[in-house]
Amino acid sequence: MQFEQLELTAREMGSHPQDHGWRGFFQLVGHGLARSSAELRGLLTQCISSQPHHSPAHLLTLIGIAVKTVRPEALPAIYRAPTVEERLRLLEEVIRNHGPDIARLVATRRNSFTGARRFLVPQTILSAFFARHRTDDLTFADFGTGLGILPRQLNCETLYRAFAPDLVWEEGVPRFRPIPLRSSLGVDCGPMPDLEWVRSCYGSSDYYAELFAELVFTLDVLAEEGRRSRFHQVDLLDRAALTTFLRDNAVHAGNLSYVLYEIPPDARADLVATLREEMRPPGLLIVTEPRAELTRQGCDVLVYRQGRREPYRLCTVSDGHFKGKVTALEDYREFFARHPVTFE
Ligand SMILES: C[S@@+](CC[C@H](N)C(=O)[O-])C[C@H]1O[C@@H](n2cnc3c(N)ncnc32)[C@H](O)[C@@H]1O
Repeated sequence: MQFEQLELTAREMGSHPQDHGWRGFFQLVGHGLARSSAELRGLLTQCISSQPHHSPAHLLTLIGIAVKTVRPEALPAIYRAPTVEERLRLLEEVIRNHGPDIARLVATRRNSFTGARRFLVPQTILSAFFARHRTDDLTFADFGTGLGILPRQLNCETLYRAFAPDLVWEEGVPRFRPIPLRSSLGVDCGPMPDLEWVRSCYGSSDYYAELFAELVFTLDVLAEEGRRSRFHQVDLLDRAALTTFLRDNAVHAGNLSYVLYEIPPDARADLVATLREEMRPPGLLIVTEPRAELTRQGCDVLVYRQGRREPYRLCTVSDGHFKGKVTALEDYREFFARHPVTFE
């Protein structure tokens, strides 16, 4: 990974239309790299050598999270500084004083931001697709599950009713319908994130404070009525380990939400191919990815199934935290004509 590539990515992420608390950090990294900041270059070199399989967007996000974790008061102070030169000087000071701690976190963790609303679209797609399936015998796995809430949220009507009204599809809000699940698994690589780490992955802003409160509310509801779920530590880039997991667990349907953007572009197709080859029929795979590697607002949702070579390009969601609007993409009508949804 070259500094030029990282600078470009930082500048693109720094011009994201929504500012939820990280944009100033990315702008500053872009500026620092343009100035050939020795501190930034040194830190990035160390981080790249410990994590060569991170995409540029993920590496930069993770460094921001690590700075926030190591010196929680540093980013607000940096943002308050009056000039960009002063902001860069403060960031360089943090790197000089805490570089090894930042690099250690980057070497051992990932961005595990977990969204409380990201189960909404999978709930609708899976319940529509499996509407005619009569027995509760499906196994579902959420790959790159983060805190592991999505596998427990599926079929939780209380959470669905709490969040679904804020995500409006072209025809309205989909009516809640259960999925015939037998088991629901969560997969992530170690160390499994805990709530404290996930909190660090949330940006520092009122917007994120509200989303984090929703996450805590979700955990409270799940403690009472969440379905049971098993968690598995598997590195999705370890093809042999992933294949063993899929063979041992006979997974019929899977979900990858905000995961592919974290791994290098050339590994993404292989991961999707392994999942498609090794899942049991119908091998339904929902892939939700931020638009343009986190540089544009919202996300796109694609659905793969066995017997169809190309994915259904299903819809786009206006805010990647699954609020706002769901808009049809090219294959929306074809998919939902076969698998109808009833709207409120
Ligand atoms: C941004 S979080 C998304 C969490 C959740 N899917 C959501 O949408 O709210 C991405 C997750 O993917 C996981 N991940 C990334 N690369 C992985 C890999 N190679 N193997 C297993 N998990 C991975 C990370 O550990 C992280 O928890």
